[in-house]
Amino acid sequence: MPSAQRICMSSSLRSRGRGRRFSVFDGNRRHAAFVVRYGTVVYAYLNRCGHQDLELDWNPGIFFDTGGRFLLCATHGASYEPSSGRCVGGPCNGRGLVAVGVKEQGDEVLLHDDRYTLDNSP
Ligand code: FES
Repeated sequence: MPSAQRICMSSSLRSRGRGRRFSVFDGNRRHAAFVVRYGTVVYAYLNRCGHQDLELDWNPGIFFDTGGRFLLCATHGASYEPSSGRCVGGPCNGRGLVAVGVKEQGDEVLLHDDRYTLDNSP
């Protein structure tokens, strides 16, 4: 796996802690995305609420609610199951997050999704 697919260091993600924002390119357009750790597993999603086309984080990298149980959209409070992206409350109304494939290898979190490449453009 080329190092260009590295999103962040694995050790930088703590369970229910601050997430890491990144961007992916699908061949046509760039998408904001993020990765968080929940339990021992890392999960990544496009940073796009199921309610409206807005990013979720309260402040950059803050995706979990105060209890660390759900991913929360800052705009109107839609909440999502961290391990699946499933909508569990608020105005997402059954529309979940779009998952992005990632994997951990050594101390790195790598993009692992044939649909996307990492986009590091400013
Ligand atoms: S845009 Fe996320 S809850 Fe409305």
